[in-house]
Amino acid sequence: MQAPLPLGSRPPVLRMSAVDKVFGADIVALKGMQLDVNQGDFISLLGPSGCGKSTALRLIAGLMTPTTGRIEWSGGTGQGDLGVVFQEPTLMPWTTVAKNVALPFRLRGKSGAEVADAIRNALDLVGLSGFENAYPRELSGGMKMRVSIARALVTNPRLILMDEPFAALDEITRFKLNNDLLDLKTKTGCTVIFVTHSVFESVFLSDRIVVMAARPGRVIRTLEVDEPYPRAEAFRTTPEYAAHCRAASDALHDAMGIAA
Ligand SMILES: Nc1ncnc2c1ncn2[C@@H]1O[C@H](COP(=O)(O)OP(=O)(O)OP(=O)(O)O)[C@@H](O)[C@H]1O
Ligand SMILES: [Mg+2]
Repeated sequence: MQAPLPLGSRPPVLRMSAVDKVFGADIVALKGMQLDVNQGDFISLLGPSGCGKSTALRLIAGLMTPTTGRIEWSGGTGQGDLGVVFQEPTLMPWTTVAKNVALPFRLRGKSGAEVADAIRNALDLVGLSGFENAYPRELSGGMKMRVSIARALVTNPRLILMDEPFAALDEITRFKLNNDLLDLKTKTGCTVIFVTHSVFESVFLSDRIVVMAARPGRVIRTLEVDEPYPRAEAFRTTPEYAAHCRAASDALHDAMGIAA
């Protein structure tokens, strides 16, 4: 287990500076986005539909380029090693769990004992040891999402991007996956940017919540959730959790008001 570094003393991973993204003549998906991501951060992007959350992730993933502004990875390495998880698990239905998780290695032309170890370790981290040879159709929605998360972290990436990964799941499964995601963060020290519409989810998971508003897509507030990890299920019933939820909910309310 890696002890979490306090906020403010973590090595930088990437910086977005004054990033605008304009589609066509006048759809301002993102305006003046400023974001510092440091190692071990768990950052949520919280905001209403159309405020540019997915656009921000796609820009960071290098799937498109900013209209203006810069995205710089520390160490000048350019586009860093990334893991990505979407709302749909996007598994290959014709092959096994282990082969699905192996995809990032296959794309890099890597195989062998180290790869097999990494797959075993990733499946263990998401609680799917023993399911190596199962096919996606044999798994529940929550288990498919676990496979998708294992695939995202199997190469031990510098940054994991998650775009509403649990939105399609029932609440009980979602809470369970929230708990497990935090366990995984404690074990691996991974750095995550997590997109959600849910105030509760963002407070439970994050140490920083970036609240965004639409038209134009922009950041309106950043909230620190300065509560120690590991956070267990009991965190959900603390007064501190309730206070952070109220603050995030107020900020989201402002975001929607501005957008109206
Ligand atoms: N490829 C594109 N071409 C044109 N407009 C786009 C494109 N991608 C996004 N947009 C527009 O940019 C704005 C931001 O979209 P984005 O998908 O980033 O929002 P979001 O916050 O992820 O919303 P949701 O919560 O619904 O997923 C929206 O107005 C959207 O219609
Ligand atoms: Mg989106």
